[in-house]
Amino acid sequence: MKKIVLIFLTLLLVNLNSSAFAQEDIRALHLTWSEDTKSTQTITWQMHEFNPNIRVEYGEIGLPADFSKKVMADIEPFSDETGVKHIYHVTLQGLKSNKEYFYRIVDGDTKIKEANFKMGKNLDSCDFLVFGDSQSYNYKVWGETLKAAYAQNPNAEFFVNVGDLVDNGQRISEWENWFLNGKDIMMHLPIVPVVGNHETYTPQKGIFSMPKYFTSQFVLPQNGPEKLKEQVYSFDYANVHFVVLDTQFGEERSFVPDSLERQIEWLKKDLAETDKKWRVVFMHRAPYHNRVDKGFDQTIKFVPIFEEFNVDVVFTAHDHVCARTPAMRAGLLTDDGVIYATTGRSGTKVYQTVIKKEWNSTFLNPLDEPTYSMISVNEKKFTVKVLSQSGKLIDKWDIDKF
Ligand SMILES: [Fe+2]
Repeated sequence: MKKIVLIFLTLLLVNLNSSAFAQEDIRALHLTWSEDTKSTQTITWQMHEFNPNIRVEYGEIGLPADFSKKVMADIEPFSDETGVKHIYHVTLQGLKSNKEYFYRIVDGDTKIKEANFKMGKNLDSCDFLVFGDSQSYNYKVWGETLKAAYAQNPNAEFFVNVGDLVDNGQRISEWENWFLNGKDIMMHLPIVPVVGNHETYTPQKGIFSMPKYFTSQFVLPQNGPEKLKEQVYSFDYANVHFVVLDTQFGEERSFVPDSLERQIEWLKKDLAETDKKWRVVFMHRAPYHNRVDKGFDQTIKFVPIFEEFNVDVVFTAHDHVCARTPAMRAGLLTDDGVIYATTGRSGTKVYQTVIKKEWNSTFLNPLDEPTYSMISVNEKKFTVKVLSQSGKLIDKWDIDKF
């Protein structure tokens, strides 16, 4: 009898081990765009195992379920300091504006995970959230900022994180916590991530790396300059052309010594080719910053290009303050210049030594609670609201364009 029970238990264990993956095996599930934002959606997640049978089924919500729509996942190995895991990603094609879709990750006959997302509402307007520096000693705070911001602004169509997502970019536990605390939002709301200096840090103090964990984990547009792909990219969403730059010229010097020159050349071409009404740049470091002991940041070399190609707003981070300039051109105030807005902090880290500078029209150092920005763009107006995690309005400004 004992022998029969043992055989039964053994068979049960073998069956459990060989059955489909549990939901817990899906990690860091999130949405990005790597292709056209009007008709595609990229879905990415991580699993320890390599399983070539994993696929994504999807369909429009409200229509009869059609499971003929399926995409096999692309799988790429990802080595971190703890070993090898696998990045799975698919890009759904042929999606329609203003529709909601479900997607489900499937292994054989077993559904592992299901979620949904919405495509952009229309081509003339958009709403999105912007977060600065989520680097934290406790990423629960970052998750709470993200959840609060989306709860307060459920019309947001995506969110941007303007760099220093984590405190040490080559330490996987930080990324695990970053994704884990944001997972309830990130599986529904696309992320536009920007590289910060901390994404180049390694566990060895003073030793920098290219931001490998960042570029491995996010699937992003490949239209940036050589050697900087996925750290530098651009895309269109509704009536806005968005550009993401990499300001880690110092940290990445030994890998890409001409990073600034490469980006300047690429940026001129990129901005010359767009016909979008609004042009918005995201980059981590600010030309008009808030540090006490510093001249202009090297990013000042981008400024003439922003001005030549009529960029409307440059969103930055790094100083952990909510600050902005008036519209500026050649260092002077003007009605149709570029506005530089620094986007506060969404995690735990604060600075005591940052100050209001002569170029700031507004300034707040958010020592008491994290902050974020909500942006609404339509054909005539670009509106920015800066809010605290608890929903308190810190600043509101807009740009009119006819
Ligand atoms: Fe930074």
